[in-house]
Amino acid sequence: MSAAPVIAIDGPGGSGKGTIALHLARRLGWHLLDSGALYRLGAVAALDRGVGAEDETGLARVAGELDARFEAGDDGVEVLLDGVSVTDRLRAHETSEMASRVASVAAVREALVSRQRAFRQPPGLIADGRDMGTVIFPDAALKIFLTASAEARALRRYKQLKEKGESVNLSRLSEDIEKRDERDRTRAVAPLRPADDAHVIDSTEMSIEEVLSAIQVLIEESSISL
Ligand code: C5P
Repeated sequence: MSAAPVIAIDGPGGSGKGTIALHLARRLGWHLLDSGALYRLGAVAALDRGVGAEDETGLARVAGELDARFEAGDDGVEVLLDGVSVTDRLRAHETSEMASRVASVAAVREALVSRQRAFRQPPGLIADGRDMGTVIFPDAALKIFLTASAEARALRRYKQLKEKGESVNLSRLSEDIEKRDERDRTRAVAPLRPADDAHVIDSTEMSIEEVLSAIQVLIEESSISL
């Protein structure tokens, strides 16, 4: 039996990947991999255990031992670390910063490869991340690279955090996003870049529905049979 089809959705922070991936997974009835959540969980676990960003061996051990569970809750996905909900901590500034540093360690990325591939189950998988199309699922049936201008991305994150009742400063958020993007783009392992066979969609001027429609057309033109 051939492996379940994968749609890879990569791109920088705030490009709308997460929202689009969730909508698509619901619409198609496919599984969803939020790979960023794994790096964020690794960051939370490292912070809790006092493992520093410079300790690559320690970080890789933490990543390899992650006891993570994703459960469908009333307000979306509930994320559990060692059985305790950490959903509210995943998007905190401290976690985002540590996640981006954790993600630049080759041994951490290696420790998370098989865990990510295990999400590939019938009828299919929507994989959201930075290296889904380039490293984790190079044979994905469809690869999307979603971008948006730096301003639009910062504004989207700002609104998301505001809606959650967090106090945020737009210019600081914008600086943080730019810094993390730069780290993702220039790191030695799995840098953020579109796969050669990815379809690049710039969502700066597009609504969620417009992006979903554009992807729907690409699905119809692909080898995916629904
Ligand atoms: O997508 P999200 O913002 O949740 O990802 C958190 C961090 O994890 C990113 O800043 C990025 O450095 C890293 N990441 C990664 N590879 C992925 C997904 C996320 O390096 N596939």
